[in-house]
Amino acid sequence: MKVTVVGAGNVGATCADVLAYKEIANEIVLVDIKDGMAQGKALDIWQKAPIDLYDSRTVGVTNDYTRTAGSDVVVITSGLPRKPGMSRDDLIAVNADIVTSVTENVVKNSPNAIIIVVSNPLDVMTYAAHITSQMPRTRVMGMAGILDTARYRAFLAEALNVSPKDIQAMILGGHGDTMVPLPRYTTVSGIPVTELIDSERLNAIVERTKVGGGELVKLMGTSAWYAPGSAAAQMVEAIVRDQKRILPVCVKLEGEYGIEDCYLGVPCLLGKNGIERIIELQLNDEEKQLLEISRGHVKEVMNAFDKMRAEKK
Ligand code: NAI
Ligand code: 2OP
Repeated sequence: MKVTVVGAGNVGATCADVLAYKEIANEIVLVDIKDGMAQGKALDIWQKAPIDLYDSRTVGVTNDYTRTAGSDVVVITSGLPRKPGMSRDDLIAVNADIVTSVTENVVKNSPNAIIIVVSNPLDVMTYAAHITSQMPRTRVMGMAGILDTARYRAFLAEALNVSPKDIQAMILGGHGDTMVPLPRYTTVSGIPVTELIDSERLNAIVERTKVGGGELVKLMGTSAWYAPGSAAAQMVEAIVRDQKRILPVCVKLEGEYGIEDCYLGVPCLLGKNGIERIIELQLNDEEKQLLEISRGHVKEVMNAFDKMRAEKK
């Protein structure tokens, strides 16, 4: 299996490292626009192989997509991260051009690849990659829900003093403050979370999760990379190993959840064909209302992107 990761910055390099360490692909190509960046990080990851004992071969290139030809999966992490005070949506002007041109290069060289977008604003960058690629929606998806859900699970594990391994949860919606955590679908080894924690503490965890990315930006002056890189690698693993995992994934909705033509995170079954099934949960009225708010927000940013494209024509 060959996997390309575009963008050898914090998230891309972490993703490549996890892919190599877990031997998820036997060939990993890291691409960046900054001369030497991808080569250096790929070489560093390769030199870790004798220590951590893996065989995955990692190579880096500067903007040379011929070296990515025939990739089975491509992860796009290229683009600016946010700085304190910025929202993910503030990145759209720069990142839309980057994601569009990267997708063109990816598709030219790997027409059968499955694409996983990570660049922000995530839902709209998934839209940009999807329309640029002209591939089916099942093969162009975004990573955010695994990260948001992992944050929620980590906060819950800490509050309950239990292993994070035992927390199952699902977060729907856009990757932003309007995301929709679902306490009703949250369990601890099968026990409904509401039996283990009072609603006040649970609500505080839900609210902290919604701004979880911003909490890290405030601390570090840039956005997170360890959990995001691992989350993207988990999606790659589900696809290349045909694991049929059910994970929250950003995909174009075409009627599911009563929503048309909007890119949102929903539970999807991931396997060798990409998104093999979109799972529709039976939401209650409150959850539907929250998802509708999230849809409205993502749609606004999609419209801003459409306007930018129209002005360029
Ligand atoms: P970073 O600045 O560390 O790395 C970005 C890399 O992209 C840089 O090395 C840069 O040279 C490269 N790049 C820029 N234009 C390029 C092009 N045209 N072709 C190839 N490479 C190019 O940023 P970081 O922290 O890795 O974040 C990357 C993106 O991922 C940001 O947009 C960030 O907001 C987003 N992100 C999304 C998350 C999610 O949950 N979806 C989580 C964390 C970050
Ligand atoms: C995050 O949530 C910045 O989207 C990125 O960490």
